[in-house]
Amino acid sequence: MGKPSLSLGLTLLFSFSLTASYSFTPSSSFPTSLKQSSPSPKATPSDLLSLLGPKSQSSSIDPLLAQELTSCFKFLVPFRPNAKKLVPEKFSGRKFLRFEQKGQREEEEDVLVWWPPQPVLELARLAVDSGGDPAAIQRALDPTMITVPDVEGSEENRCQLTRTPYGRHFISEELNSYIGFLFELILARGPTVGLNVSLNRYDLFHGHLFLALDTGRLGILFHAKEYPAYDKELFPYNMGFCQRGSNVTYDDSMNLRNILWLAPLPSNSAKGWEAPGVLVVLDARPDGIIYRDLIPEYVNFARTIYEDDLGEVAVDVNYLAVGNPEPRFQLFIC
Ligand SMILES: *[C@@H]1O[C@H](CO)[C@@H](O)[C@H](O)[C@H]1NC(C)=O
Ligand SMILES: *[C@@H]1O[C@H](CO)[C@@H](O)[C@H](O)[C@H]1NC(C)=O
Repeated sequence: MGKPSLSLGLTLLFSFSLTASYSFTPSSSFPTSLKQSSPSPKATPSDLLSLLGPKSQSSSIDPLLAQELTSCFKFLVPFRPNAKKLVPEKFSGRKFLRFEQKGQREEEEDVLVWWPPQPVLELARLAVDSGGDPAAIQRALDPTMITVPDVEGSEENRCQLTRTPYGRHFISEELNSYIGFLFELILARGPTVGLNVSLNRYDLFHGHLFLALDTGRLGILFHAKEYPAYDKELFPYNMGFCQRGSNVTYDDSMNLRNILWLAPLPSNSAKGWEAPGVLVVLDARPDGIIYRDLIPEYVNFARTIYEDDLGEVAVDVNYLAVGNPEPRFQLFIC
């Protein structure tokens, strides 16, 4: 069974080498000298994570590199790198003060990203305490296997969306709903940075939960626009069964398909926190540093940042519309 999460990259690599339709590669319109003469050193995934961390991590990044990376961050929730003194408790009680209904909800959502509920914090600490061991995360899962049902006609197309034909849930219900919350928040706030997504099986339905040991970060890399529609001119790539029927248009919003959530960073002391959580779209526009340094060349037209480059992947999270005819979303952790 293939690993569907890699399908975009691998299928493209495959079709690329088979059909050699080089004319499409967006990078071909950029002179190679642009890449060679670039003054900043090469950015690494670890630089990216450090920059989204506390001062103690971000200050070690080359300033030019930091500037270029920062220009590719499109925050869905305001970035508060200095909020480390704001312990989660400080927020409680604030929310009823004086916000309008809408503003109040937004504030609550921001807080849920900066300082998630306890089970999320515990998972973040577990990630560090276990020394970045994916098995520690997997042990937080309920062993019950849930078969992935037909999702929006996927069976008819012989499409298997998930890594395995069954998924699981976290034992903590609050953790499960938190992951659903993240999908919904990306849906709701994406348009503020130019990312319109749908929660469907061609677009946003999965993310990869990873542990980055060198920065101590637990995160999820979401991939939107997973199966763009085949189009002779715009996207001449056959990606197999799961692409059939896609209505995702290949356009500039592909640049925004990598969305990163980071859990708060635990400090070395038993209880403290070094940095709040983050939710950011990583802009992979072709003249930016993310495209240049963090997207493998053979998938540059797909703009895929690989989860394995960010850390050890523990599980995939899939948020699938299983209801019929009314959409009802269900989480499958594979
Ligand atoms: C996103 O959707 C909104 C509302 O449908 C639309 O006004 C806007 O132009 C769209 N933005 C992009 C970048 O497609
Ligand atoms: C694609 O289809 C889905 C499901 O029918 C719908 O929710 C979504 O808005 C459509 N997207 C576009 C870009 O038309």
